[in-house]
Amino acid sequence: MKIAVTGASGNYGRLAVARLMERIAPGDLILLSRTPSKLAAFAERGAVCRRGDFDEPESLAPALAGADRLLLISATRVGQRVAQHRAAIEGAVAAGVKHIVYTSIVGVAPGNPALVVADHGPTEDLIKASGLAWTILRDAHYTDAIVEVIAANAIQSGRWISSCGDGREAPVWRDDCVDCAVAVLTGEGHAGKTYNITGPERLSMPEIARMTAEISGASIEYVPADEAAMFAMFDAMGVPREPVDNLVVGNNPWNSNDIVSFEAAIRGGWFDVISDDVERLLGRKPRALRDMLELRRQPAP
Ligand SMILES: NC(=O)c1ccc[n+]([C@@H]2O[C@H](COP(=O)([O-])OP(=O)(O)OC[C@H]3O[C@@H](n4cnc5c(N)ncnc54)[C@H](OP(=O)(O)O)[C@@H]3O)[C@@H](O)[C@H]2O)c1
Repeated sequence: MKIAVTGASGNYGRLAVARLMERIAPGDLILLSRTPSKLAAFAERGAVCRRGDFDEPESLAPALAGADRLLLISATRVGQRVAQHRAAIEGAVAAGVKHIVYTSIVGVAPGNPALVVADHGPTEDLIKASGLAWTILRDAHYTDAIVEVIAANAIQSGRWISSCGDGREAPVWRDDCVDCAVAVLTGEGHAGKTYNITGPERLSMPEIARMTAEISGASIEYVPADEAAMFAMFDAMGVPREPVDNLVVGNNPWNSNDIVSFEAAIRGGWFDVISDDVERLLGRKPRALRDMLELRRQPAP
C-alpha cells in the first residue's frame, strides 16, 4: 500500500513522514512539495518525492499517481483554501487514490465564525462527495501554537492580550495529531469516520495565561480585548489581515483575520469540544498543555 502526503515539507508533514517511515517502507511513500528539493532528506531514505502545487491543479494527478491513500494536510492560506483543497481532491480521484485522510478542525458547524471553518467545512463536504473513502481528523487548537507563539510572546512582553473571553477549548499537541493520522493511514476500519482529536483538558485562555506565568516564573498581565483592539495590535505589529505565504511576523505565521475570527469562535464556545478519540486511536492519553509548557520552559526575561 502506497501513502501520499501533501505538505510533506511543513511542520506537520515532516513529523508525519518521519513517523510513517517507522511503520512502512520509505519507498511506499509519495511526498509532495512545490519545491521537492526541500524533501531531499526523505528522498535519500528512499521516499518518492514529486512536485505538486495546489495552485496548479494539473500538477496534482501526476504527482499522486500510484498512491492508495492520501494524507491531505490542509494548506496555509486561511480563508482561501477551498479551491486548493478541491484541486487536491480532484487530483486524487483522477490518480486513482482510494482513501483520503484530511486534517480539519474541531467545531465545524454552520455559524462558527472562525475563518478556518469556512475552509474546512466545504473541504469536508467535497471529500465526502468525491466517491473516495475518507477519514476526517478534526484537530483542536494546537498546544504548540499556544505555547510557542502566544505564550512565548506574553512571556517576553509581560502582557497576554486576548479576545477569547472565558471560552474553553481542549488544546492538543500537534505530535498527538500526527500520531493519530499515522494510526489511521496505516490501520483499517477508519473509513467514513470523523474523529475529534483533542487534548485531555478544557481550558480557558485566562487559565492558560495563569499556568504560563506559574510555570515560566514570568509576570504576565492578562488583558481582555475586543476585536477592534486585537486588529489594532496586529496592524501595529505588521501582521497582515489577509494571508501571505511564508510570512512570519513576531513569531506568528497567521493573518489577523484568521486569528481574530478564531478567538471569536473560542469566545463563543464553538471550539469547546473534548473527546477520547486520541486514546481510542493510540491506546494512550493525549498530552496536556502543562506538559509542553514545562518541557519548553525558558527563563523569564
Ligand atoms: N489546529 C490548529 O491549531 C492548527 C494550527 C496550525 C496549523 N494547523 C493546520 O496544519 C496545517 C499544516 O501546518 P504546518 O505548521 O505544517 O504548516 P507549514 O509548516 O507552514 O507547512 C505548510 C505546508 O503546506 C505546503 N503548501 C503550501 N502551499 C502549497 C501549495 N500551493 N501547494 C502545495 N503545497 C503547499 C508547503 O509545501 P511546500 O512549501 O514545500 O510546497 C508546506 O509543506 C495548517 O495549514 C493548518 O491547516 C492547525
